[in-house]
Amino acid sequence: MSTYQNTQYQAVDGYMNVPQDNKAQNRKSKLIVIGSIIGVVVLIAVGVGVGVSVAKNHKNTSAKSAAVSNSNSSGSVTQTDPNDPSTFVKNPALHQSFYGIAYTPFGSQLPDCGNSLAGVITDIQLLSQLTKRIRLYGADCNQSALVLEAIKQTKVDMTVFLGNYPVPSDGGAAYVRQRDLIKNALQTYGADHVAGVTVGNEFILDYLGDNGGTTQDPNGPVGNAGAALLLPNITDTISMISGLGLNIPVGNADAGSYFNTEILSAVSYGMANVHPWFAAEAIEDAAGWTADFFATTNVAAANALSNKPTMYIAETGWPTKSSSVAAQSDGPSLASVENLQIYLDTFVCQANQNGTGYFYFEYYDEQWKDVEFGGVEGWWGLFNSDTTLKNITIPDCPAP
Ligand SMILES: *[C@@H]1O[C@H](CO)[C@@H](O)[C@H](O)[C@H]1NC(C)=O
Ligand SMILES: *[C@@H]1O[C@H](CO)[C@@H](O)[C@H](O)[C@H]1NC(C)=O
Ligand SMILES: *[C@@H]1O[C@H](CO)[C@@H](O)[C@H](O)[C@H]1NC(C)=O
Ligand SMILES: *[C@@H]1O[C@H](CO)[C@@H](O)[C@H](O)[C@H]1NC(C)=O
Ligand SMILES: *[C@@H]1O[C@H](CO)[C@@H](O)[C@H](O)[C@H]1NC(C)=O
Repeated sequence: MSTYQNTQYQAVDGYMNVPQDNKAQNRKSKLIVIGSIIGVVVLIAVGVGVGVSVAKNHKNTSAKSAAVSNSNSSGSVTQTDPNDPSTFVKNPALHQSFYGIAYTPFGSQLPDCGNSLAGVITDIQLLSQLTKRIRLYGADCNQSALVLEAIKQTKVDMTVFLGNYPVPSDGGAAYVRQRDLIKNALQTYGADHVAGVTVGNEFILDYLGDNGGTTQDPNGPVGNAGAALLLPNITDTISMISGLGLNIPVGNADAGSYFNTEILSAVSYGMANVHPWFAAEAIEDAAGWTADFFATTNVAAANALSNKPTMYIAETGWPTKSSSVAAQSDGPSLASVENLQIYLDTFVCQANQNGTGYFYFEYYDEQWKDVEFGGVEGWWGLFNSDTTLKNITIPDCPAP
């Protein structure tokens, strides 16, 4: 354990060397979706104040830590033929009950990268026992190709929403870099296992945070200026895909309170982070709050547009632990395995029954986030960071 933590700590040192711009960007980017403006103000203040950021997976980690994780990873799935990843032995505790799951392959952040096909294969073997859909956040470090190759080798029934995570302040460099990796992966693997390409993750939330504050209206002048930066990238991805002769929907993901109407009007789907934890909901009310927020805010907004984009919950979940006393609860309820179980028991099958498309947050704990940001940030996984299942019972209700 201590070796692992030390390695993670070095990863964070590496992260500290990234350009200040990126770091500031990361700090402001919250994984939140907040139900109210008051919630937003309080949480952003807390988030910035203690340096808690949550730019999902937008951060850096080291090749070294990837090696540690992957060596443990591959130990948690057995294959009857060690050379054939499709011969993995299924775990009877897992059920394909989740509509979708949010996933970032270990070590998929620049500059270190350090992800590996072996690690991604293990993840896909486990994920495919829980869901038929996953979503990625970005495309750096060849993660799109690694995931599609792992799906091919494991022969599982799985589609992936690829992701491009542009940065508002870099003149489009991150966008182009990731677009080319996605294009390359699509040329190699085709569209059979690709359900969408999501351009932008919390772009408007970040842009508001960088330009006058997140209390602003995402459809006000600043929000529209942010949209004007992202829209060309969305259009560019649409033409890249049609240029390949493929038919893949292009979407956008943001915090549930931060969708810009011009962006939603330009995409086939929207993905909204809806987090009862960050909205300070009690665990007993969490699933109902999430359903209500998503329906009244996101689905309603999409239905009012002529293109009627399909809406998904991009992230929802419950943390099992906090590394700081301050973040042990969201106010009314604790971060705990027991409460994760309650959230699973009250959200998953009900959302399936209601026909809600959602991506459960998240596949496994990301320890480097804990070292970097503390609080609950590293503890949202269904699995521990070593890919062992937490002490939970997976609901058993086949997802659509
Ligand atoms: C794998 O994880 C265990 C604890 O879960 C740890 O003791 C061991 O050192 C890890 N293996 C490697 C190679 O780091
Ligand atoms: C990306 O991953 C795929 C699948 O493993 C591999 O074939 C390809 O060579 C990789 N590309 C790079 C640049 O690493
Ligand atoms: C992507 O967006 C950025 C602005 O955020 C812009 O500078 C760049 O030209 C765009 N690139 C493409 C290819 O759309
Ligand atoms: C499912 O729908 C019911 C009826 O509208 C609602 O009360 C409940 O909160 C929803 N739950 C989920 C998790 O979607
Ligand atoms: C696992 O959870 C069950 C029921 O929630 C509990 O009784 C048990 O003590 C837990 N086991 C561990 C090792 O925490």
